[in-house]
Amino acid sequence: MDLKQHIRGIPDFPKPGILFYDISTLLRNADAWQVAMGRLAHAVAPAQPHLLAGVESRGFLLAAPLASKLGCGFIMLRKPGKLPGRTVSLEYDLEYGTDSLHIQEDAVKPGQRVVVVDDLLATGGTLAAAISLLRKVGAEVTMAAVIIEILALGGRDRLGVPATALVTYE
Ligand code: PRP
Ligand code: MG
Repeated sequence: MDLKQHIRGIPDFPKPGILFYDISTLLRNADAWQVAMGRLAHAVAPAQPHLLAGVESRGFLLAAPLASKLGCGFIMLRKPGKLPGRTVSLEYDLEYGTDSLHIQEDAVKPGQRVVVVDDLLATGGTLAAAISLLRKVGAEVTMAAVIIEILALGGRDRLGVPATALVTYE
């Protein structure tokens, strides 16, 4: 199955000049979603993760079912003000301004292998921050996995771990 046929590019979202690759159409097609999850599972399983980490919000849609399928635990990397208890955070740069990701400080036992999952790798800023944050709480981050990679932005070079993508765009 060509998964690109189930991903649409929406021009000028969220701002003029940006072509937004939307996985909503993939998720609403039962066969396409099943195929995507199967391919992600096949790519991630050799890393033998103890945990999958999903990046809020679209990363959650993939990481949680993938963790269940692989028999791993699932942890959330969240935007500010959402997680109860003691948390650790990391601020990262956006095109304009900054954002931050947060994790519960006891989310990972020392040395546990973690694979971080998101829908899309563009500049890599989000996943690079996710990986740094996971390391701060003791994770051994072994891999990043996404459905879509935008090659021209070179995001994978910022990650420092192997990255797998199901489809790529220039
Ligand atoms: C989008 C996308 C990735 C990130 C990729 O998330 O879901 O998480 O941007 O971009 P980058 O590689 O340049 O960092 P967004 O922050 O728009 O939020 P959402 O997942 O909550 O929709
Ligand atoms: Mg996102």
